[in-house]
Amino acid sequence: MPKDNETANQTARTTSETIETLHNRVSVRKYSDDPVSDAQIDAVLQAAFRAPTSSNIQAYSVVVVRDEAARQALSVTTGNQKHVAETPVFLAFCADLRRMEHALQRHGHDMDDNSLEIGLVSTIDASLVGMAAYLAADSLGLKGLMIGGVRNDPIEVARILKLPKRVYCVFGMCLGWPAEAPPQKPRMDMGLTVHHETYEPDGLDADLDAYDKDLAAHYTGLGKPTTPDSWTNDIDQKFASPRRDALRQQLKDRGFDFR
Ligand SMILES: Cc1cc2nc3c(=O)[nH]c(=O)nc-3n(C[C@H](O)[C@H](O)[C@H](O)COP(=O)(O)O)c2cc1C
Repeated sequence: MPKDNETANQTARTTSETIETLHNRVSVRKYSDDPVSDAQIDAVLQAAFRAPTSSNIQAYSVVVVRDEAARQALSVTTGNQKHVAETPVFLAFCADLRRMEHALQRHGHDMDDNSLEIGLVSTIDASLVGMAAYLAADSLGLKGLMIGGVRNDPIEVARILKLPKRVYCVFGMCLGWPAEAPPQKPRMDMGLTVHHETYEPDGLDADLDAYDKDLAAHYTGLGKPTTPDSWTNDIDQKFASPRRDALRQQLKDRGFDFR
């Protein structure tokens, strides 16, 4: 049991190693040639599998990819992302309904009529494991980058990784020892993203104007092309038309029915 003064210190604390780690976090896209050992990947994943999991379903699998030809193929299907070909290790975080299906089959049922809920919980499960792995790796000094480009073509990713039916790759992660230290991308003001007790009205226009300016300054500082309305313009460019239109059918083909 903590003594009274220890309890007082604990209840007043507003920082910790984990909080500092998150404050300093940034996506890293260049890695050194130093090897990442199997023992390190095992340690990272073993820790990550302690992430909470909906109804203890543990509806995830991770494919650890080191093979150069596979990383090259993944690089192409994720939109020719160079870092995917160059990363020493690529982790494919998958939603995986196979073990659940097996449990149901043992009891005379199947998953042929699965729906949005099961698709969502398995995807959430895989995402929580992914972020936990990211933080566990970071605590060893390894830096990562999540890769949503795997959803450009889930069928091609399944072919490359030989994923069976009822498994799809939600996102991938490049992982290696950092060979760059990029500046952090600014986040929106917390006034926009945190509400107390109920969702509070906000000054959306003024706050987004401010964020557009911050982000434009960030990209300009890096010598990257942008516009004065950096974030709102970027979002409009990316999302005004439907993206990955084939995804619903492709995931259905993988055994996930997002009805
Ligand atoms: C689910 C997910 C998918 C992502 N996919 C990609 C990707 O395919 N390629 C890439 O370069 N970055 C990808 N990112 C990284 C984001 O672009 C990055 O996190 C965001 O721009 C904020 O920058 P920061 O992580 O440096 O703060 C992804 C991030 C997440 C969470």
